[in-house]
Amino acid sequence: MAQIYTCQSPDELSTIAARLIEHHANKRIFAFHGEMGAGKTTFIKKICEYLKVTDTVSSPTYAIVNEYFTRDEASIYHFDLYRIKAWTEMLEIGYEDYFYSGNYCLLEWPEKIVNLLPEEAVHVSILVSADGSQRTITF
Ligand SMILES: Nc1ncnc2c1ncn2[C@@H]1O[C@H](COP(=O)(O)OP(=O)(O)OP(=O)(O)O)[C@@H](O)[C@H]1O
Ligand SMILES: [Mg+2]
Repeated sequence: MAQIYTCQSPDELSTIAARLIEHHANKRIFAFHGEMGAGKTTFIKKICEYLKVTDTVSSPTYAIVNEYFTRDEASIYHFDLYRIKAWTEMLEIGYEDYFYSGNYCLLEWPEKIVNLLPEEAVHVSILVSADGSQRTITF
């Protein structure tokens, strides 16, 4: 059954991040849907905090994927697919090595690569209310 959270400020995201990861304890691939500025990167930052990432989390600007390390030296992969022009760019970076690594893969703009997303990916959607005061996060 879907879990639905409403959120008025980024401060509330830590709890939701914990719920997401706990609820899908055996899942490693998470696809974040939401329009530009919905809060995908912000939410991913909170998830990385929860997973004890020690690096600075920011959307990859030049590369498709950023790698972060956790306190226990596990890797986490943060993809921002907004600028990719064709899914074949994923082949060039060897996306399977990331997706099937067993490490967390957190993807912004997964719509760009629907045909490559593994079936087991967890879909998370962030919806901003019309007046912008509230986010609804569903997974
Ligand atoms: N849950 C939230 N509550 C209030 N403000 C938020 C929330 N999440 C994000 N914001 C604000 O919205 C703005 C955009 O957030 P963010 O960069 O995370 O969006 P994004 O979905 O990653 O956008 P893009 O599609 O450009 O990558 C930021 O200024 C951030 O502070
Ligand atoms: Mg972003």
